Amino acid sequence: MQLTVVDHPLARARLSTMRDERTGNAAFRAALRDLTQMLVYEATRDLALAESTIQTPVTSTTGYRLAAPPLIVPVLRAGLGMADTAHGMLPESQMGFVGLARNEVTFSPEAYMASLPETLVDRDVFLLDPMLATGGSLVHCFGLLTSRGATSITVLCALAAPEGLRRLEESGVPLRVFTASIDEGLNENAYIVPGLGDAGDRQFGAV
Ligand code: URA
Repeated sequence: MQLTVVDHPLARARLSTMRDERTGNAAFRAALRDLTQMLVYEATRDLALAESTIQTPVTSTTGYRLAAPPLIVPVLRAGLGMADTAHGMLPESQMGFVGLARNEVTFSPEAYMASLPETLVDRDVFLLDPMLATGGSLVHCFGLLTSRGATSITVLCALAAPEGLRRLEESGVPLRVFTASIDEGLNENAYIVPGLGDAGDRQFGAV
């Protein structure tokens, strides 16, 4: 697993806005959008480019476009707040969706929606989920992706807990993780500490 902490003054400032319990839903969503830009910017640094000749008003020169824009997959519901920003930066990308809920008998995550291409062979996949807590949901997502042939998975999250990072590493799936912070750990309710609370509630309200 390749881990990158996007530790930038602007990322710290936006993350502090998100952590602050006084921050309202709208300001929280705005800070998450800004942070997502920084995560996508770093995660796309090495994407392959295709060249073509383009004409400027002055002369012809070499132009570039992404050779193979990644598939963007927000994990519902909290990942929705990252989706539009990621798509804005990767306008040629397609978007899939995964919705996960906890089975109240087994306590394991189960997909109630998986809107994904049939094959993900040779496709980069960017999974968006603001909180990497236990890692259980993401490992479940990996199964959905690898069963379709995905071999290039990148996780973009605002915050990560060491326990979740270990779980991802132990999954054995080759992946990259981009986060703005590795926090102290999880509390007894599996919330990230210091964290920011429930990322879905903070964006959309506690419904
Ligand atoms: N999911 C959240 O939204 N917050 C946490 O702290 C952990 C998981």
